[in-house]
Amino acid sequence: MAQFTLPKNSKYTEGKTWPKPAGASNVQEFRIYRWNPDDGANPRIDTYYVDRDDCGPMVLDALLWIKNNVDSTLVFRRSCREGICGSCAMNIMGGNTLACTLGIDDCASDSIKIYPLPHMPVLKDLVPDLTSFFAQHASIQPWLQTETAEPEKEWRQTPEERSKLDGLYECILCACCTTSCPSYWWNGDRFLGPAALLQAYRWLIDSRDEATGERLDNLHDPFRLYRCHTIMNCANTCPKGLNPAKAIAEVKKMMVARAV
Ligand code: SF4
Ligand code: SF4
Ligand code: FES
Repeated sequence: MAQFTLPKNSKYTEGKTWPKPAGASNVQEFRIYRWNPDDGANPRIDTYYVDRDDCGPMVLDALLWIKNNVDSTLVFRRSCREGICGSCAMNIMGGNTLACTLGIDDCASDSIKIYPLPHMPVLKDLVPDLTSFFAQHASIQPWLQTETAEPEKEWRQTPEERSKLDGLYECILCACCTTSCPSYWWNGDRFLGPAALLQAYRWLIDSRDEATGERLDNLHDPFRLYRCHTIMNCANTCPKGLNPAKAIAEVKKMMVARAV
């Protein structure tokens, strides 16, 4: 019988429990994944206590409070702190989401657990390596492609044509959907994943774009598009409320329509 073992260094251990803030009466516990590629040790889960009376309301506020007051070595990405840049995506209480738009109270837990986005290589602590994710986004050529001569001013769209981009253009490329997709976990090297495919549909449906045939050719592959099995994790987890699974289904419909 085949036997499988976890890769070396993939099992996490119990880490350090940091002191509770002195004099605080309203304290929240956090259990946070830590991994340092330079020390040769396995990942560990550190326990921190945050003084809620001295901290903002969001999970990102708590991470910043920990970094500023308890442990400056904790590493995570963030920039806009308002759900626009996508950089603070992580796994919080078992779901992929943005730390800056999730309230601490919304976690409704005595102990809030935070891990990096799943099934991506980890660079350090809560920071995943998104090199492949962004290369897949680049592979769908996410820019306007035209053959007719450039207009003197802007490319025009009717309000109806423009409305077809609603639910697509809002994607902030946070990778919450792609890293929650079981098909991507198993075939992430060949399946483009929901974020890149939602972006592909955003350009396919754009009335100004004139590379529809080439874009469909680029997706016509047993893995790049067709590994989506409509499991719907992507739509359930998107912190912007988008539905990549529906966009993928629309691309499949376009494939069928041009084949008949
Ligand atoms: S619907 Fe498709 S892309 Fe979305 S999680 Fe499921 S398999 Fe992945
Ligand atoms: S579709 Fe949603 S979850 Fe996926 S990358 Fe875009 S914003 Fe993030
Ligand atoms: S910090 Fe920009 S989306 Fe959270």
